[in-house]
Amino acid sequence: MKLLVILLFLGLLTGCSGNSSYSLTPQLLLVSFDGFRADYLKNYDLPHLQNFIKEGVLVEHVTNVFITKTFPNHYSIVTGLYEESHGIVANTMYDDVTKKHFSDSNDKDSFWWDGAVPIWVTNQLQENRSSAAAMWPGTDVLIHNITPSYFMNYSSSVPFEERLNNVTTWLSSSNPPVTFAMLYWEEPDASGHKYGPEDRVNMSRVLKEIDDLVGDLVQKLKVLGMWDNLNVIITSDHGMTQCSENRLIHLDSCIDRSNYSVIDLTPVAAILPKTNITEVYEKLKNCSPHMNVYLKEDIPDRFYYRHNDRIQPIILVADEGWTIVLNKSSLKLGDHGYDNSLPSMHPFLAAHGPAFRRGYRQSTINTVDIYPMMCHILGLKPQANNGTFSHAKCLLVDQWCLNLPEVIGIVISALLLLTMLTGLLIFTQNRVPASRSFSRLQLQEDDDDDPLIG
Ligand SMILES: *[C@@H]1O[C@H](CO)[C@@H](O)[C@H](O)[C@H]1NC(C)=O
Ligand SMILES: *[C@@H]1O[C@H](CO)[C@@H](O)[C@H](O)[C@H]1NC(C)=O
Ligand SMILES: *[C@@H]1O[C@H](CO)[C@@H](O)[C@H](O)[C@H]1NC(C)=O
Ligand SMILES: *[C@@H]1O[C@H](CO)[C@@H](O)[C@H](O)[C@H]1NC(C)=O
Ligand SMILES: *[C@@H]1O[C@H](CO)[C@@H](O)[C@H](O)[C@H]1NC(C)=O
Ligand SMILES: *[C@@H]1O[C@H](CO)[C@@H](O)[C@H](O)[C@H]1NC(C)=O
Ligand SMILES: *[C@@H]1O[C@H](CO)[C@@H](O)[C@H](O)[C@H]1NC(C)=O
Ligand SMILES: *[C@@H]1O[C@H](CO)[C@@H](O)[C@H](O)[C@H]1NC(C)=O
Ligand SMILES: *[C@@H]1O[C@H](CO)[C@@H](O)[C@H](O)[C@H]1NC(C)=O
Ligand SMILES: [Zn+2]
Repeated sequence: MKLLVILLFLGLLTGCSGNSSYSLTPQLLLVSFDGFRADYLKNYDLPHLQNFIKEGVLVEHVTNVFITKTFPNHYSIVTGLYEESHGIVANTMYDDVTKKHFSDSNDKDSFWWDGAVPIWVTNQLQENRSSAAAMWPGTDVLIHNITPSYFMNYSSSVPFEERLNNVTTWLSSSNPPVTFAMLYWEEPDASGHKYGPEDRVNMSRVLKEIDDLVGDLVQKLKVLGMWDNLNVIITSDHGMTQCSENRLIHLDSCIDRSNYSVIDLTPVAAILPKTNITEVYEKLKNCSPHMNVYLKEDIPDRFYYRHNDRIQPIILVADEGWTIVLNKSSLKLGDHGYDNSLPSMHPFLAAHGPAFRRGYRQSTINTVDIYPMMCHILGLKPQANNGTFSHAKCLLVDQWCLNLPEVIGIVISALLLLTMLTGLLIFTQNRVPASRSFSRLQLQEDDDDDPLIG
């Protein structure tokens, strides 16, 4: 025990006397592979990713936010907020007050993003720190009037290699140093939509390519001498489920198009009625047994998807694997956006580095819990958020971690010990007057032992 304290003290001393806060400021790289469904890890061969996990931590299922789309979930990761609170409530939005439109190709207006302060902004408001980003949604937009110090304008055609090279350059040689960086890649989402997650042949090819990119990432960090000191989180925004031309919901068969505008279509349709909301609702309500139709005020609490002007008066939520269409079938074989309680919609999270334990696994956290964990690693005071730091405690080396099974184990052991002690007490008390047989037994044993000792 004393030795441990001395060792710790020595460690602290050498840490402090070393050169500047430069080397002590923790660095974090946050990586997202879009649409990486949690169970791909179990169902496909991913040796590089498994090696990364072996030396770090894995969260098997991350419960993401509703709606399970790309822009909203990426913004929840970096803000810790539900969609109704950060304001990016879909990939396609319309604001009836300002008449503004948002889409993935028209996303640069700060209006849409300023409802929250993402972690890269908070990080940059600290002295001597900067942030860097390669294509993470929102990082090429002025948010609260700043962008990351280093960023790329979004272009899907920039290869992974270039994104990785530039991010590692920024992480290793900037002044003030980049302490927080983000790296985004469009796969396996694009292929998941194209082939559907049940196309094992095509998906295993795609996932092998992604696994090789993870291998390149680790290799690059090792070559640059950054592997041991950099914290790396690899995660995703959502999963993917199989769709089919046999599972279509035709809105045109229920309601005249002139009665409403479709802001977003599938699998969660955002409906803006042109006339009487109740009339439109009545027409849609019984349109299909494979979707739920909600007036805005009746959207279930568990979605945390109501208190925002950008959420339309009526939303339709298709059942898993069903696709909402107007009259034609514009079908993708895979899709996401569905109920966030569906396992197929969940991504995973893996992490490696000095802040993380080694070889630890836990079954779940929430997407909104990632933000307070990242703030803790970077030593930032978090903005108000919907995450819970303690959910991620067990992943971190510097936290006391007692999970439920361990607590139960300790309580049971304590109870057992207590019972045994009580039993022993009662036993000895009862047996004290009549302890002859006990002594005889002891004597016999001593007799037996004697020759051996002698
Ligand atoms: C700390 O390192 C910087 C370069 O990284 C160097 O300029 C400076 O002289 C060093 N300071 C000390 C006290 O070693
Ligand atoms: C910021 O960096 C400058 C020079 O590199 C240094 O003098 C100053 O102490 C640093 N501030 C903090 C808060 O680390
Ligand atoms: C991004 O694009 C804008 C104009 O479209 C340009 O002014 C700016 O320099 C670009 N930024 C980077 C980092 O490429
Ligand atoms: C990456 O860095 C190289 C070298 O500085 C630069 O030429 C290139 O434009 C950068 N790529 C992007 C997408 O910003
Ligand atoms: C994989 O995709 C190709 C088209 O790129 C398609 O022809 C093929 O049928 C797919 N494989 C399977 C097993 O469906
Ligand atoms: C709504 O649709 C009905 C047909 O179902 C049509 O008669 C009516 O004119 C439409 N109302 C509006 C305002 O477009
Ligand atoms: C909307 O329609 C319902 C049923 O058709 C009717 O009871 C209600 O008064 C209408 N509301 C308005 C504001 O017109
Ligand atoms: C589908 O909608 C288009 C208008 O977008 C219309 O021209 C066409 O007739 C419709 N087809 C069917 C089968 O209803
Ligand atoms: C989420 O956090 C924001 C910011 O603190 C807060 O305004 C909102 O009420 C929270 N939402 C829930 C459901 O607690
Ligand atoms: Zn996505």
